[in-house]
Amino acid sequence: MGEHDFDCVIDRTQTPALKHHKIVLGEDGAGLFAAGVADMDFRVAPCIIEAIEKRAAHGVFGYETVPDGLLPALTGWAQSRHGWTVDPAHILRAPNVLNALAMAANLFTEKGDGIIIQPPVFFDFADIIAENGRTLIENPLVLRKGRFEMDFDGLEAAASAPRTRMLLLCNPHNPVGRVWTRAELARLADICRRNGVLVVADEIHGDLVFRGHRYTPFASLSAEDALNSVTCLSPAKSFNIAACACAFTLVPDPVRRAAFKAENSRLTVNKNNAFASVAMEAAYERGGPWLDDAIAYLEGNVALLRERLRQIPGVTMIEPEGTFLVWLDFRELEPESEALTRFLRHKARWAVTRGIAFGPQGAGFARLNIACPRARLIEALDRLERAAQDHMESTK
Ligand SMILES: Cc1ncc(COP(=O)(O)O)c(C=O)c1O
Repeated sequence: MGEHDFDCVIDRTQTPALKHHKIVLGEDGAGLFAAGVADMDFRVAPCIIEAIEKRAAHGVFGYETVPDGLLPALTGWAQSRHGWTVDPAHILRAPNVLNALAMAANLFTEKGDGIIIQPPVFFDFADIIAENGRTLIENPLVLRKGRFEMDFDGLEAAASAPRTRMLLLCNPHNPVGRVWTRAELARLADICRRNGVLVVADEIHGDLVFRGHRYTPFASLSAEDALNSVTCLSPAKSFNIAACACAFTLVPDPVRRAAFKAENSRLTVNKNNAFASVAMEAAYERGGPWLDDAIAYLEGNVALLRERLRQIPGVTMIEPEGTFLVWLDFRELEPESEALTRFLRHKARWAVTRGIAFGPQGAGFARLNIACPRARLIEALDRLERAAQDHMESTK
């Protein structure tokens, strides 16, 4: 274990943390294992806290521009961490990833055009498509031998439909934890390019990859594929700074980039948050050792979960390759969605995200966030074990 203390339990109810708020937990949420919202319960890297404290101590927070060191910190990170050369001229700042996805959908498709998603997938993808008057085209992932894969025949059919213009890629994939391989991405890229479908790659989880797997940035596949892509990047998940609201859009195609810039200006989403700027810069410049330790700790939590689930009847885990989200299969324990929701909330006392929130394909599953101190996870698993045994007994 590294030098950072991820076992420390921090009371997040002292802040308006969404994960613990009644917006998410409901009115009677006290005592639930809050493992729904996708952030970490860990204190962030010391270098980020120091950078924010230093900036706060300065005491003046008037209008600012982007700090000189920020884009070099991002491109340096991409290069050293992922072997990915990013041209700083291609980078635009964005308030957050969802904002960038919605802007891309508006800019590069027309109302009624089709946008492909591959469920079960992060629920906001479908919401963005619906809220912006676009047509949802689903190409569900396929579960083969315990691993989710893309359905390339289905993708070919979806991409070649006359009004399909865009695909929202989740790389790595929330909630099933796949870190798409270069070969898989190249196949998807080929289908999209041949059919004139723009790939909008949400790579917010790209830095959170477990040993034995490798994150392939979509835009690193080839120059041609980069031109057919918009990538959304952010340190929000990997460095646990989602409330700093910070993201980047990478737009290699000059015409699309000009359109994006103009839209940022039209909507005036081009102002900087001083604390987000210093937090991002510190994360990318000096946060590597902390992230290595965080990933090792998450791997430990995955190992614990794997071990404990051997004793828990009716629940299995889809082995995650990255992210801090684990897709749990409860179908054997309780196949009916509403009954599963009741079981999780009232018997196990878990507040996790219902599988069906990610599309009908998620029925019988739930998404667990494991980015919490191990003691919390153990306590939650003890409760699940007792509840699952009771449930099995009562439904015999
Ligand atoms: C795949 C994915 N994209 C985007 C987001 C949200 O990003 P942001 O807070 O920057 O809008 C999340 C948060 O859970 C996510 O999992």
